[in-house]
Order: sequence, then C-alpha cells, then structure tokens
Amino acid sequence: MTELIKVDPKAPELDKLSYAAEAIRRGALVAFPTETVYGLGANALDKMAVLRIFKAKGRPLDNPIIVHIGRVEDIHLVAKDVPSTALELASRFWPGPLTLILRKSETVPKETCGGRETVAVRMPAHPIALMLVREAGVPVAAPSANLSGRPSPTSAKHVLEDLDGKIDIIIDGGRTAHGVESTVLDVSKRPPLILRPGPITLEVLSECLGKVDVHPNVLKSGFADVEALAPGMKYRHYAPKAQLVLFEGPKEKVVKAIQRKGLELSRKGKRVGIATTKEDEVFFKSFQVVKSFGSRRRLDVVAKNLYEVLREMDHKKVDVILCEGFEDKGLGLTIMNRLRKAAAGKVVKVR
Ligand code: TXA
Ligand code: MG
Repeated sequence: MTELIKVDPKAPELDKLSYAAEAIRRGALVAFPTETVYGLGANALDKMAVLRIFKAKGRPLDNPIIVHIGRVEDIHLVAKDVPSTALELASRFWPGPLTLILRKSETVPKETCGGRETVAVRMPAHPIALMLVREAGVPVAAPSANLSGRPSPTSAKHVLEDLDGKIDIIIDGGRTAHGVESTVLDVSKRPPLILRPGPITLEVLSECLGKVDVHPNVLKSGFADVEALAPGMKYRHYAPKAQLVLFEGPKEKVVKAIQRKGLELSRKGKRVGIATTKEDEVFFKSFQVVKSFGSRRRLDVVAKNLYEVLREMDHKKVDVILCEGFEDKGLGLTIMNRLRKAAAGKVVKVR
C-alpha cells in the first residue's frame, strides 16, 4: 500500500514531513515534489534502501542516482576534493536545479552511484523537498519518480500512475514549477561539461564560468554511446507509450509537414496526436487529439507542461505523436534534449 500525504507546498506542515523523514531513515521509499520534477527518495547511505529504488523503477543498476542534501556544507559529507568552482556554483545556484558531479566520499555506497567513483549532488529549492531532506538528517538519493524510460512526473497523480503500490509514501505538493529535471554539470572537466541541460541554461552557466561545453549526446536522439558520461543517456528516456516523431526546421514548413504526415497516418487508420504550441494549434483543427505545450514565447511554460502533455497523449490512446520542435537556445536546448530522447531516433528535419 502506498500512503498519500497532502502537504502545503508553500508552508509545509512540519509534522507530516517529520513522519515521512522518519520513514526515510527507516529505509522506506518516499516520493516528494522538487522544483523540477517529483523524486523517489531513499536514504542515500543505506544500500538496501537504494536498491529498492532501482527495483521499484525498473532502473538499470549502472544508472547512478542524484544525492539531495539540505545544506551546502553537506557537500563535504558525500563528496571529496570538491573543487572551488563547485563551491562557487553551489553558493550561487543552491538551493536550486543544478546537479554537480563530484568525486564521491567513502560514506556513499557504490550502489547509489551506479558503481562509479563520482557522485551527483544537488540541494533542492522546493520547500517540501528541502524540509524533508533536512528532517531526514541523511542525504536523500532521489531519481525522478517514474518507471524507468517514462516521462518524469510533474504531479503526484503521475507518480501514482507509475508507482502506486510499489513505494511506501507519496507526498502530494501539487504541480512542480520547472517541469524538467535539473541541469547536470561535470565540474571535474576543463571547461565544465553539461551532461544534461536543465532549467539553469548553458547561457547562464557560461556567464558565470566562461566557456562551458555541452556533451555531444545532449543533441542526439535515441540511444547514446555506451560510454556516455551521464549513464542515463544510454537508455530510451522521457518517452510516452506512443511513438513520438519530432519535426525540426522552419516553423511554417514544420506545420505543413506535420499536417501532411498526420493526414497520411489518419488515412491508414492510425490514431494521431499532435503536440504543438499555442500559436500553431489553429493549423491542426481537423485532427482529433491536439495538445499545446503553451506559447513558443514562454519556454518556461512549455517546459512546465512538457511531460504532462506526453502523458495526456497516452491517456488519449494515440498510436503516434507528431511533435513540433523548438530552437536549441536557452531553455529550448533543454526541451529539445527531452523531446529528442523521447523520439528515440524518429526525428524529421524539414528544410
Ligand atoms: O531534477 C532532478 O535532477 C530530479 C529531481 C528529483 O531532483 N532528479 C533526476 O534524477 O532527474 P534522475 O536519476 O532521473 O536523473 C539523474 C541523471 C541521470 O541521467 C544520471 O545518469 C545522471 O544524472 N547521473 C547521476 N549520477 C551521475 C554521475 N555520477 N556521473 C554522471 N552522471 C550521473
Ligand atoms: Mg529520470
């Protein structure tokens, strides 16, 4: 049985979170909201608890989990030889959606880190996440609270869809703000290397650090190299059940290409879902299932709605999702990274 606890996201009730924190200390699995997506938390120092996370999600054991801390100083509890760049980034962006890859300390079991010598660390900004981790008094390992390969959950309902009955507690704190997972940055590299783009963009990091590189896998669709630096990148990801086909190119041509492909598939008896923007919705009136991510001019809103739209497509039982792309700039790079992974190679470049 999974216990559902409703908590006020703005002013979390301490007694409710103390109860959930106690469960974490005892080795339980607790899903909770962060400012990015919902996480599935367990005591990061308890290898049995961490192994239960892998089992509940169906996550490959070599895919390491992010460790969440409640205070900046705790970075030294889970990591060693922390470079000064990491400390500067932590003081600027924590609590917040930035994950740093550091050398792991002996305290952290190898299971948490997928067998690696490095550990991914972040201090979440969501009041519930922060209070929960602080109350737990231990670092909390938490991947996104979805079944492995599915879109990350941005509400408690999404967590239930995937994990009801498989985990002990879900804290319902409403919808998450960013809607996409944290930026993952390897600060041991010169220049620092973005392994996964997120709410803290390349542009913002470059302003702070000078040159910043982006791992080539970030831009690839489908499966990345086996030796990918962020091991999560080698698996199909963020994917709805239906096949997603991503269309990239000049906006007008993309709209036409989707209309054409949509008609062709409908004629063949396929149930087609169109994932588009507020501006372009009007061009798809003849289709049954049309969902908008939001305005092209508000990429923060697009990111917030991204996974929800993909999950809704599954509820509508479409066979194929034809999806409009965005420019690889700012948050657009983050959105496109998730869409390219979800498309698993089905990317149409329109010229
Ligand atoms: O926003 C987030 O980051 C959310 C919330 C819950 O904090 N968490 C999240 O975790 O997205 P997860 O496990 O779904 O994604 C973690 C990513 C994976 O791609 C993983 O491979 C990578 O970070 N990662 C974790 N530890 C790593 C390490 N030591 N070296 C390289 N990549 C690592
Ligand atoms: Mg994930």
